Amino acid sequence: MKWFKKKAVQPGAIALDRSPDKLPRHIAMIMDGNGRWAKQRALPRTAGHRAGMETLETIIRACDELGIEALTVYAFSTENWARPKEEVAMLMNLLVEYFEKKIDELDRNGVCIRILGFEEQTPSRVREVMERACVCTRDNKGLKFNIAFNYGGRGEIVQAAKRFALDVAKGNVQAEALDEDGFGRYLFTAGLPEPDLLIRTSGEQRLSNFLLYQLAYAEFVFTDVYWPDYTKEEFFRSIAIYQSRSRRFGGV
Ligand code: IPE
Ligand code: IPE
Ligand code: MG
Repeated sequence: MKWFKKKAVQPGAIALDRSPDKLPRHIAMIMDGNGRWAKQRALPRTAGHRAGMETLETIIRACDELGIEALTVYAFSTENWARPKEEVAMLMNLLVEYFEKKIDELDRNGVCIRILGFEEQTPSRVREVMERACVCTRDNKGLKFNIAFNYGGRGEIVQAAKRFALDVAKGNVQAEALDEDGFGRYLFTAGLPEPDLLIRTSGEQRLSNFLLYQLAYAEFVFTDVYWPDYTKEEFFRSIAIYQSRSRRFGGV
């Protein structure tokens, strides 16, 4: 018997199937690793966040190219307020800058922006610029681009339960009539299809309180690449991995 050397799998070898029924309708993205990317280069963490903005642009374009219906990115969690004051402030500035710089281009490309998260705690200038972006792109028919900002999955479920209870107390709805679709309308993601694919960069394999309810049947793809290094090719590769999975939804 002849022994063959096992061929190394080439990163670019997985081919992406671009047929619409093979692509995920909704992609959720945990953009992680900005700080470590910067540390590797002896740069301040904030440099990583800035570099990460460029990656976001690349991924939005790639979604547009593929005709993906919705992209939801985790930009700032309810737990991220615990970071050093300077880093939080810089992240807020960067967000304002992002909206001010990119809104026209996103609008021209038919992108419809929506913010998922809590309004409390958010500085008013950040809230204003985000609101403007949502209003101005509201009727666009292209990519649904959702930014999870001051978002936490448990908090989202609790506020949904609270709002439902208040509706019951006011006599607007009947508690017995609640079902999964009805509950979904109280979540920040109301009206969006559930994510088919969750991607997390930077090697971490956890949800960090992201879309706990909505990811029930999503496929998870983790990559070691830090977010600022994540390329269109890597993104296509993540989708190709998704396409290689067999989704059974509890069936056979
Ligand atoms: C993700 O990168 C960006 C945000 C959470 C805002 P990190 O800042 O978490 O980078 P690491 O995980 O420390 O490398
Ligand atoms: C999750 O990343 C939040 C965002 C990407 C915005 P974190 O870096 O905050 O998560 P942990 O702390 O590693 O779980
Ligand atoms: Mg992180």
